Amino acid sequence: MLALVCYEIYKKNKDTKALCVEDGLKEPPTPRKMPIIGHLHLLGGYEVPYQAFSFLGKKYGNVVKLQLGQVKCVVVNDQKNIREALVTKGHHFDSRPNFQRYKELFSGNKENSLAFCDWSETQKTRRDLLKAYTFPRAFSNKFASLETLISSSTRTLISQIIPEKTVELKPLILRSCANIFLNHFCSKNFEIDDERFVRMVEDFDEIFYEVNQGYAADFLPFLMPFLKKNLGRMNALTHRIRSFVEDKVVENRYEEFDLETDPGDYIESFIKYVKSGDGPELPWDTALFALEDIIGGHSAVGNFLMKLFGFLVELPDVQRKIQEEIDAVVGTARDVTIADRGSMPYVEGVIFEAIRLIASPIVPRVANQDSSIDGYKIEQGTVLFLNNYDLSMSDRLWDRPEEFLPERFLKDNRLIKPDHFLPFGGGRRSCMGYKMVQLVSFGILGGFLQKYTILPAENESYKVPIGSLALAKDTFKFRFVRR
Ligand code: HEM
Repeated sequence: MLALVCYEIYKKNKDTKALCVEDGLKEPPTPRKMPIIGHLHLLGGYEVPYQAFSFLGKKYGNVVKLQLGQVKCVVVNDQKNIREALVTKGHHFDSRPNFQRYKELFSGNKENSLAFCDWSETQKTRRDLLKAYTFPRAFSNKFASLETLISSSTRTLISQIIPEKTVELKPLILRSCANIFLNHFCSKNFEIDDERFVRMVEDFDEIFYEVNQGYAADFLPFLMPFLKKNLGRMNALTHRIRSFVEDKVVENRYEEFDLETDPGDYIESFIKYVKSGDGPELPWDTALFALEDIIGGHSAVGNFLMKLFGFLVELPDVQRKIQEEIDAVVGTARDVTIADRGSMPYVEGVIFEAIRLIASPIVPRVANQDSSIDGYKIEQGTVLFLNNYDLSMSDRLWDRPEEFLPERFLKDNRLIKPDHFLPFGGGRRSCMGYKMVQLVSFGILGGFLQKYTILPAENESYKVPIGSLALAKDTFKFRFVRR
């Protein structure tokens, strides 16, 4: 019997090996590892952990195998290989890691999350339902109403600025973005000092900060008890958000929605899908998680805008060029609107340049089957870190990559997006919100600089944290002077 088992194991190993040889797949190179932590120590000591990935890439090659604690990973460098993972073989690498933290943040099941779930027919449906709202087509009704919405919210936002005085901008920007999102997706608007609304915005911002952190416990689950208190707090915040969404956003629309009517907004699209029962099963409870994730997208835009202002406050020349473009295209008689985007490539270039310099990572992917990248074998279950920090910051790809130069995105006065610029990932798990980022940022930035110049507040320093979109709660105050 034992001999038979041994033979089966021998045969299995032999077959696997033969398969590798036949496919010509190589094992990726790997550095020497430590007991228990594996290669985790190699990620320390950098401003952004992704800088370690560039270093490993230079030392070992473009595909490097790492054991991070208990998790087998590969680091993928270079545009060609990253595209292979995202696009050519995107369907092999469309899962997300099983970090315990994700599970805890989404009521014990990461499949509830839009960004951290594995690929499934449900995820396809959730993405399909969203598309019409996150990527509104130019000249469509949805685009027109978003245009009006961004303009009016920007006007309200700017009306709260007291010229020359120090302004705590983050809460104002976040609330403005939240109202844009709530209006656009859910047809709801809140007074900017509504207590529950304000708390909801703060709660989302705290969670956004949390999900953007990396913890050793993601790789060494026995450290999870150290995160317990923090996760307990996050849980309380997610519950409070859920009750806000149920009481104040959805209200009784689920019960009252008539299946014969056309959906008027994203909530109704969801309600119609869930109630009609056509297509993959999507319980209303799961749909609510997706709704919350999308409403929470306002935190991403708000934090991004704060970082953008953090760059601009120290770049008077860039501000002047933005203002020159606004003056030439729009003047002062009317507000900047998102329909002006096509005629204002410099402002668009400024937004791209800030996104490039922030260099936030692509959400890690996981191989759902045995596969390969650049001829290197990738085993099913391996977590992939796609090093887009390198794509955004390498001096092989960009001239003076550390500098803020929006002109690098312009050619013949038109906006260009180089192929290696992949801040929103790619393929079937690409970012669902990038158009909203571009539209809302354009409207708010354009609106501000049409009327004001951004100046530093007294004793404030403006080192914009990179490698993540999130910005701590009380970061950056500004002063605004009328033009
Ligand atoms: C500057 C701001 C943002 C940046 C840099 C960014 C970047 C990214 C990246 C790199 C990914 C992973 C893509 C991949 O795996 O290929 C992603 C996923 C995602 N983003 Fe964004 N994002 C931003 C804002 C937003 C906003 C505002 C929303 C919501 C409206 C949003 C919704 C999503 C969703 C739902 C996913 C997960 C998609 C999936 O896994 O199927 N993002 N984002």
